[in-house]
Amino acid sequence: MNETNDVFSSSTPLNIGIIGFGPFAQFLAKTMIKQGHILFATSRSDHSQLCSQLGVKFFKEMDPFLDSNNYDVILISTSILSLSQVLSSIPFHLLRQRTLFVDVLSVKEYPRQLLLQVLPEETDVLCTHPMFGPESGKNGWEGLAFMYEKVRIRNEDTCSRFLQIFRSEGCRMVEMPCEEHDRQAARSQFLTHTIGRVLAEMDIKSTSMDTKGFETLVYLVCEEAILVISYCSFSTKKNIYIKKKRNMLCRDNHGYASSVLLLCFVGMLIPQICCNIL
Ligand SMILES: NC(=O)c1ccc[n+]([C@@H]2O[C@H](COP(=O)([O-])OP(=O)(O)OC[C@H]3O[C@@H](n4cnc5c(N)ncnc54)[C@H](OP(=O)(O)O)[C@@H]3O)[C@@H](O)[C@H]2O)c1
Repeated sequence: MNETNDVFSSSTPLNIGIIGFGPFAQFLAKTMIKQGHILFATSRSDHSQLCSQLGVKFFKEMDPFLDSNNYDVILISTSILSLSQVLSSIPFHLLRQRTLFVDVLSVKEYPRQLLLQVLPEETDVLCTHPMFGPESGKNGWEGLAFMYEKVRIRNEDTCSRFLQIFRSEGCRMVEMPCEEHDRQAARSQFLTHTIGRVLAEMDIKSTSMDTKGFETLVYLVCEEAILVISYCSFSTKKNIYIKKKRNMLCRDNHGYASSVLLLCFVGMLIPQICCNIL
């Protein structure tokens, strides 16, 4: 393909169907619409009012959702725990053309394996993790990491047009195997979320004389309070590397001893972090 075709192709709007229209899908949808893509959505709850405000066509049922369009992309943005149930409710025989399935779950190896198991062989699969959310991405996506693995891609054009949504917003594109993502996330995110959770318990609030360092702590608390419930309780179940780290901390499985160990672990880390950032 020559350069002119490439530019034309990357600017052609995609027909994107979203399954699971929770807070994260709503956040992504705004940028996709701004870029001129055409969006459709279905979800467990009725989001039709919000969708009509955003300019997204909403379907209460899965069958008419799949049957009514030629989707280039179907974006799966359900909770991690409901993924299996949601995938098994998709009537794939209604798909009208070869479609790229993209997931945005915060763990990666679990959806990769499940998508390969459940999706029809003729579909393409892209596993992604935008490493930001409605809070950290509220002022734009410039410099924010976007992890992806091209798991099964035959239609490179559609895949690259989808990735272009994030590239053109300035995301730092990180191509990486899902397994490696989970390994690295177990190190970085487990620590971040654990500390965020403890800070949230300490009820840390902004004051009139915050230093930059303290602002960072307060930000961490806000960001983590939102993520922690979904990430800690769900990801530990679905990311085997996080599970190993949690088991190291809570080996004896007794609530009291586990809490003491966790507090000791965090207690050792917080002074170091505070020294570094204050
Ligand atoms: N939030 C972030 O910052 C962020 C960042 C990167 C990746 N992610 C990933 O993006 C995905 C979506 O995140 P989220 O923050 O929007 O919220 P979420 O709580 O993970 O759930 C998203 C949607 O899943 C649907 N859902 C939940 N349980 C269901 C069930 N049993 N059956 C059918 N549907 C069910 C719900 O749809 P209804 O609303 O219709 O009930 C909900 O809105 C997650 O997998 C998360 O790991 C999130």
